[in-house]
Parts: sequence; C-alpha cells; structure tokens
Amino acid sequence: MPIVAPSLLAADFLRLGEESRMLDASEADWYHLDVMDGRFVPNISFGLPVIQALRPTTSKTFDVHLMIEEPERYAEAFRKAGADILTVHVEACRHLHRNLQQISGLGMKAGVALNPHTPVEPLFDWLDEIDLVCIMSVNPGFGGQRFLPQTLLKTTLLRQRIDEAALPTLIEVDGGVTLDNARDVVAAGAHVLVAGSSVFGAHDPIAAIRGLKQV
Ligand code: DX5
Ligand code: ZN
Repeated sequence: MPIVAPSLLAADFLRLGEESRMLDASEADWYHLDVMDGRFVPNISFGLPVIQALRPTTSKTFDVHLMIEEPERYAEAFRKAGADILTVHVEACRHLHRNLQQISGLGMKAGVALNPHTPVEPLFDWLDEIDLVCIMSVNPGFGGQRFLPQTLLKTTLLRQRIDEAALPTLIEVDGGVTLDNARDVVAAGAHVLVAGSSVFGAHDPIAAIRGLKQV
C-alpha cells in the first residue's frame, strides 16, 4: 500500500482546522505542506505560522516541501514549526550535500525534490544520505495541473537503484496524481503519493484518500 500524503495547498484555508480534523481521521499517512517563495517558483503559498498552527492538530508526519531559494536559511525554523521531513529542491541548492547534512543534523528526514526536467542519476551516489526523493510530475508552483507522464521513467530508474542497493530511501511522486493514474505511478515504483486537488476537490475526500491507498 502506498503512503498517501494529501497536499494542503488544495485545502479550504478558511476552514483549515476542519480540513485538518478530516485528514487526521482519514487513512492519510502524512500531511504534505507546500511552501513557495515567489522566487524559486512563480507563486507564494504559506509558510511557518500556518505549519506551526497546524502542528497541534495532528500527530501525523509533516512532509514539508520547500519550493524556495536558499532553503538552508530556514531549515531550523521549519524544524521548530514542526516539520518531520524537509525536502529541498536540487535546483535551489548550490551545496546540496551540505544542506542535507544540515537537515539531518536538525533531526529531520532529508528530502530532495527534482523538477520534471531534472535527471535523477546525479543523486545515485548520495542516496544513503537521502531519506526521500520527490519526483515532481508537474512544474512546481501550482496545484491542479496535469500529470506529466515523461517523469515516470525517473521513478522506475530510481526504484531499481534503491532496490539493488537495499536502501530505505522513499520515492514520492508529486503533482497531478489522481485515482486514474495512481496505479501507474505505484507500478513505476513510487512509495509515496502526493495528491492535492484530487483529494480536496473530491466530493468525498475521505473516500478519495481510501481510493489512493487501495490502488
Ligand atoms: C506543486 C506542489 C504539489 C501540489 C499538488 O507545486 O508541490 O504538492 O500541491 O497538487 P495537485 O495534486 O493538485 O497537483
Ligand atoms: Zn509538493
């Protein structure tokens, strides 16, 4: 069964407390929290105070996806706000390995995200220090976009490598994941499904989450 991580980017922010109660009671495994700075991506979402406010509402894992430049400036603050997994973009890190060490040193799981066009092979020699690889299946910055199937091959290649080396690194696929394509994404090798609009836009989000767990 995949780990299911609904993205709160698609939640109703006016009812964030209720949305969190719904997720907490659902079969969702993690909360996926998308932070955007208007620089790395052409959009601004939410940041530290929102994550801090959500933290007491659940004990589920907070999977924080930083779509920001210079993420090293904020790693400690996100730890304090309640992040369990902190994912930085390879394209936003001049010293990726140092940034991963910083995240691990702060007691969080270290994640690396790849834009759709970024190859996965450069990570192969570093996987023993990476807890999670987030393969973006849309261009980051906005929810509700269409899944890019060209990104599936990276998941397959990475999963082969992880299995060959018997590593615990998790593969997360993020962007445009729906009940219709989730089976292909898991078949390609994903351990974690992120889903925003297909969960919060569903008539019955609890059923949508259950559907994703059962692909
Ligand atoms: C995109 C974000 C995704 C997004 C997923 O920049 O990283 O997590 O919220 O939303 P959907 O599932 O609507 O593509
Ligand atoms: Zn995300």
